[in-house]
Amino acid sequence: MKTTKAKIIDGKAFSHQLNQSLIPIVKKVIGEIGRPPALAVILVGEDSASQIYVHNKAKRTQEAGMKSVEHRLSSETSEKTLLDLVTALNEDNEIDGILVQLPLPKHINEHSVIQAINPEKDVDGFHIVNAGKLATGRSELVPCTPLGCLLLLRDTLGDLSGLHAVIIGRSNIVGKPLAQLLLAENTTVTIVHSKTKNISEITTQADILIVAVGQSELVKSDWIKPGACIIDVGINRIADLEKGKGKYRLVGDVDFLEVAQKAQFITPVPGGVGPMTISCLLRNTVAAAAKRNGVEIKLK
Ligand code: GUN
Repeated sequence: MKTTKAKIIDGKAFSHQLNQSLIPIVKKVIGEIGRPPALAVILVGEDSASQIYVHNKAKRTQEAGMKSVEHRLSSETSEKTLLDLVTALNEDNEIDGILVQLPLPKHINEHSVIQAINPEKDVDGFHIVNAGKLATGRSELVPCTPLGCLLLLRDTLGDLSGLHAVIIGRSNIVGKPLAQLLLAENTTVTIVHSKTKNISEITTQADILIVAVGQSELVKSDWIKPGACIIDVGINRIADLEKGKGKYRLVGDVDFLEVAQKAQFITPVPGGVGPMTISCLLRNTVAAAAKRNGVEIKLK
């Protein structure tokens, strides 16, 4: 069997620790407000990956001692119906967090729906108010996947100050907020994307390389600097020819076997960033519940 040179960053184990550490904090909030923090998750349509994510989010929310409320709507749901539901959840005092699973069907304007969420309940951290707070050093609710990446990086490397982080991908969900979080750690940040010229000339300078583009095994070993720390945000389903017709396996945006021979640290897919995203959602939910109800809590 081929051994990997890099140390594998165990996001699954780290997220389990984080989830456990939230349980006493949730209990404190319950003690003060007389009910569990509650997360409402809205899923529109039948996208199979989204259904799995939503199921996992609900399961982990309950395991942490919080309440999960699921709203599953058909793919034909109108934007008005969805906006009315968001408004009702905004007004419901017993709901602390609202998450609308993306992507939404094409006839619904994602931006309008996200901006309709009360920023205090925006546990995804996607609202313009929360994006602005993050960009100006006053972050409250921070997008979950970038926060998960940051917690893994801090745990693996300690102080990130002065390191050069290159992010591949400039989405509002991952690339842009992650750049803000890393800047706040005094990291030097470069974002590259589909229109960047000579990407590998830039990525080979990265002490930290974070890849969030959704392209199976895009990053090969000649894109990385020896000894770099690689964070793979991608989760792509590809045909598994060894297992047979109709069988799939999950791969990241990084060619794991190849890159793990050259990197010093690398996240696997699955079991790397994915579980951390859910842990950060739980963290944001308890944080939102505490803030809305004037309960003081300390999150690591
Ligand atoms: N779809 C993919 N990632 C996310 C996420 O972090 N939040 C939501 N709401 N939808 C997603």
